[in-house]
Amino acid sequence: MSELSGKNILLGITGGIAAFKTPMLVRLLRDGGVNVQVVMTAAAHRFVTPTTLQAVSGRPVRDDLWDAAAEAAMGHIELARWADLVVIAPATAHCMATLAQGLADNLLATLCLATKAPILVVPAMNQAMWSSAATQRNVSKLIADGVSIVGPDEGDQACGDTGPGRMVEPPAIVDRIRQRLVAPVLAGVKPVLAGVKVLITAGPTVEAIDPVRFISNYSSGKQGYAIAQAAVNAGAEVTLVSGPTNLAPPSGVRMIAVQSAHDMFDAVHAEVADQNVVIGVAAVADYRPAEQAPQKLKKKSDKMNLLLDQNPDIIASVAALKNKPLVVGFAAETEQLIEHARAKRVRKGLDAIVVNDVSKQDIGFNSDYNSATLIWAQGELALPFQTKDELATSLIRHLADIFVSQLAITNPESATN
Ligand code: PMT
Repeated sequence: MSELSGKNILLGITGGIAAFKTPMLVRLLRDGGVNVQVVMTAAAHRFVTPTTLQAVSGRPVRDDLWDAAAEAAMGHIELARWADLVVIAPATAHCMATLAQGLADNLLATLCLATKAPILVVPAMNQAMWSSAATQRNVSKLIADGVSIVGPDEGDQACGDTGPGRMVEPPAIVDRIRQRLVAPVLAGVKPVLAGVKVLITAGPTVEAIDPVRFISNYSSGKQGYAIAQAAVNAGAEVTLVSGPTNLAPPSGVRMIAVQSAHDMFDAVHAEVADQNVVIGVAAVADYRPAEQAPQKLKKKSDKMNLLLDQNPDIIASVAALKNKPLVVGFAAETEQLIEHARAKRVRKGLDAIVVNDVSKQDIGFNSDYNSATLIWAQGELALPFQTKDELATSLIRHLADIFVSQLAITNPESATN
């Protein structure tokens, strides 16, 4: 862990049962040569003692904005400047609400407002508190403010419940700290996907009826191409499998042009073996004409029946692979967006799904704008109305953040670069 040696970390501890694990976290950081200044809230004292933390950190613990002696030694603004990184572990629901509102009613919250250092928040709370609308709203707000949320893990909880809300274990927190502090910043965009291979499907598919007619949809490819560009900008090696569009391929992607859902299925499966991430943005036709007429169909009677066969589900087939990559789908919905998307994510076996409303004129199909919700097993995050380029950049950053451990497993370089 020598690359962290000499770094200054301000560790905020708030009042959750997981606070008992923080002496271990301090110990791991100190072993790597990190200077750790512990700041505790009043509630944290109920779970772990300042004496223990002073012993392991080698520094007196700070816990009071009004402590004249401590302020004389290093004032809170000075402390905020001293930090290379602020880590809050465990972060309670109350702490996250405080940060999301920008309050400064205790030393830790004040430091978070005063610092220019990045902030990592490691939530720990009861699963129902984590899933509550208010906490999820605060999570979205914090992420939008540039705060990184680490976890929570899922499993048995101290209160007897099972679900998301456990604090990420100290060694995994140290990994995230290393990634955050050591990652190089290139041209203002963090290469959060450096070395990661990402395959993206985009655009519509075209299902031929005869040589001059087809079934398709209004997908322009804009959202998928924007995501491909955002992934390239984040350092990924990107393959774009696209149905017919009028767009120029994004710079730096390997482009595979296809027509039908079957072509797209074949192209994706020819490439998927060495991909780390697959993102299905394409509006794939669910059905194709059962037969493709070799000649132009002639007009015969008033009515005509067209028999359709179901197309294979590309993204679900990728998610069902034995060595599957991280799989992210999109859901184009017109009603009960969240409910339908949650069910779709589970039904297709996806790690995450991005649901957008395609009943509106100003977002979704063919618009330059979109608004969506990212849904994964442990959480949901609103991606508010913005350009498709902005939404793509934000989505890539959140996916890299949320799935950091999977991406690090598939590609150890991405965790340390
Ligand atoms: O291209 P734009 O004009 O910019 O518009 C963007 C968009 C609205 C098309 C995009 O944001 C979007 O919502 N894409 C998903 C469209 C869609 O087909 O949604 P779905 O809910 O029917 O499918 C769910 C998921 O399964 C999608 O990831 C889709 O790619 C995938 N799928 C669907 C059917 C199929 N046979 N194979 C698939 O892989």
